Amino acid sequence: MKSITVELADRSYPIVFCPGLVTGADGSEQALLASEMGDSVFIVSNETVAGLYLEPLKRLLGDRKSDVYIMPDGEMYKTLDQIQAIIGELLAAGHTRETTLIALGGGVVGDITGFAAAVYQRGVAVIQIPTTLLSQVDSSVGGKTAVNHPLGKNMIGAFHQPKMVVMDVETLKTLSAREFSAGLAEIVKHAALADRDYFQWLQANQDSIMARDSACLMTMIEWSCRIKAVIVASDEKEQGNRALLNLGHTFGHAIETLSGYGTVLHGEAVAMGLMMAADYSVRSRTLVESAPAQMAQLLTAFSLPTAVPKGLIRATFLQAMGRDKKATVEGLRLVILRDIGQAEVTSQIDEDALEETVAYFLDSA
Ligand code: NAD
Ligand code: GLY
Repeated sequence: MKSITVELADRSYPIVFCPGLVTGADGSEQALLASEMGDSVFIVSNETVAGLYLEPLKRLLGDRKSDVYIMPDGEMYKTLDQIQAIIGELLAAGHTRETTLIALGGGVVGDITGFAAAVYQRGVAVIQIPTTLLSQVDSSVGGKTAVNHPLGKNMIGAFHQPKMVVMDVETLKTLSAREFSAGLAEIVKHAALADRDYFQWLQANQDSIMARDSACLMTMIEWSCRIKAVIVASDEKEQGNRALLNLGHTFGHAIETLSGYGTVLHGEAVAMGLMMAADYSVRSRTLVESAPAQMAQLLTAFSLPTAVPKGLIRATFLQAMGRDKKATVEGLRLVILRDIGQAEVTSQIDEDALEETVAYFLDSA
C-alpha cells in the first residue's frame, strides 16, 4: 500500500492509499489496516455514504466495539446540534478517551467528526476515510475541523490532526459528476500554486481524469496530497505558508456568500476564484498575460465554471471579500500568482487592479 507521511513531530500521521478498502473484497492489506484502527471505534457517516460503504467498513472492523452515528446529508447539518447529538451517542454507548472516531464521508462528515473528536472528553483520536474527491485531496488532510455558525461558515472549530487518513479512490466512481468536478478545482489550485509539472500533467491527462481512470486518479490524488502534506508540515496553524492553500478562496468565498450558500458548490466558487486571482495577478503585474487562458482551458476541460454568476454587485462583492475570515486585521490578504506553479501571500493590495478585476468579472457575467 502506498502512503505519505504528514510530518508533524509526535503528531505525524500517514495518508494511506488503499483501493478496495470499502469497495472491494476483504483482502489481507485491508484487514491489516483495519487492525490499526483501534479496539473501540465510533463511525460517523451520512445517509448517502452509509448506504454505499458502511457495511463493508463494519465487516472489516469485525467484532470489536463499534457504534455508528448516521447524520443527514448536507452542509446545512454541519452544526453544533450534530456535535451535541454525536457526543450524546458516544456517552450513551460508554465510549472512553481510548475510543477512535472514524469519519466515513465527504468534507462535511470529515469536518464534523474531526471537531467532535477534538472536543469529546478534551480530545480523542480520529481517522478520516474521505469519500469525495475534495475530501481526499483537501479536507481530510491537515487537521482543520469545524462546524458552521448561522453568521459564518466554519466559525466554530479546532485544529485536530487525525491519527490516520485512509482513502479508497474507488469510492469516487459513485460520486456525481458535479461533485467530482468540484474536487478538481482544488487540484488545479494545488498545481497552480505549487507545481508547474503537475499542472502540465493535468493538462496532458485531462481526458483520463474525467473518465475517472483508477491509475490516473491515484497519481493525481497522491500528487495533491503530497503538496498539501508539505505545506501543512511547514505551517500547521496557518501563520504563514499554509495561507497559500487559499489561492482563489477570498474571491471564491465572496461568490459563495453572495450567491447564497448551496447555489454554487465550494469547488465551483474556487474555480471562479482561481480565474479572478489569476486576472488580478496579471493586472497587478505579477503574472504573464497568457497564464489565465491556460487556467481557463483546464478548468473548462474539468467542467468547471470560469465566469461568475449573474447579478452580483460590485460594492457588496468587495465588502464580502474584506469580511472573509482569511483577511487579517490590518486588511485584506490575497494569494497572488507569480507563475503557474508559484504563488505568494500578500497584504500589499493594488486597489485599482482589484477593482478592475471585480468589475471585469461582474460586468461580463
Ligand atoms: P460533502 O461532504 O457535502 O459531499 C458532497 C456530496 O457527495 C454529499 O451529498 C455526500 O453525501 C456525497 N458523497 C460523498 N461521498 C460519496 C461517494 N463516494 N459517492 C456518492 N456520493 C458521495 O462535500 P465535500 O465537497 O466533500 O466537502 C465540503 C465540506 O468540506 C465543506 O463543509 C467545507 O467547508 C469542508 N472543507 C474543509 C476543509 C478542511 O481543511 N477541513 C477544506 C476544504 C473544505
Ligand atoms: N483548505 C485549506 C487548508 O487546509 O488550509
